[in-house]
Amino acid sequence: MSTPAIGVFDSGIGGLTVVKELAALLPHEKFIYFGDTARAPYGSRPPAQIIDFMHQILRCFASREVKLAVYACNTMTALGLEEARNRYSFSLVGMSTGVRTALKATVNKRIGVIATQATIASGKHGELLKLLDSEAVLYPQACPKFVPLIEQGEFTGSAIEAAALEYLAPLKAAKVDTIILGCTHYPIISPIIKEIMGPSVNLVDPAGETAVDARDTLIRMGLKAESGAGTVRIGFSGDSLRTEELAASILGDRKCECIQMNLEDYVVC
Ligand code: DGL
Repeated sequence: MSTPAIGVFDSGIGGLTVVKELAALLPHEKFIYFGDTARAPYGSRPPAQIIDFMHQILRCFASREVKLAVYACNTMTALGLEEARNRYSFSLVGMSTGVRTALKATVNKRIGVIATQATIASGKHGELLKLLDSEAVLYPQACPKFVPLIEQGEFTGSAIEAAALEYLAPLKAAKVDTIILGCTHYPIISPIIKEIMGPSVNLVDPAGETAVDARDTLIRMGLKAESGAGTVRIGFSGDSLRTEELAASILGDRKCECIQMNLEDYVVC
């Protein structure tokens, strides 16, 4: 019998930034990654539709008997995690907000969060920040142009730079000293964000914390693989070869295998 895998999912290639962290922390695990590239971006869609898409992906993982599903998507975490809890036979780990790490990093207590429209509208980062430190101020900024450009492979160049200048201007004006990358696509363009914000601004990528949450959940449940070679298998709903090339460039030297994953079977009408 083959060892059960960990399902990881996002709207597109962005969640691979989380897979990288997961695979480094959990070297013996088998990961199945699904990126819904045919329907990305999710962040500008209505909440009900985002939740619907999330359930399709989770049903697909259920049919593959995963032992854990990790959201590599802030948008689906913010909108759908609570409603998905206890509905599946496997545990769920959502994207960490990064708020705790941001509070450790900030000196002036002015924290920016950049994310999709849906994540920003959910207000989740602000709620948690208020709870943890009533003096800290959050500056939320939706960045709807980022994901479509990144999905096209525009990790550098004038279009992504112009968008970054536009979105980061209010955060510069607010003198934030820390920015949470509240979308898993954004670490891919962190060199541009760094360049614009300058070296004194901390960028918080919650992927590392999310990987730690996943590891702790596996340990708690007695499901962590302790031996054997880990694998990363990735599937996308879009069929572009270019996506596979981009995926490989995000994963770096971590080897992966591309697989077929068809979501249509999991749509409930
Ligand atoms: N990468 C996702 C996130 O972390 C979603 C991006 C999108 O599809 O809009 O929110």
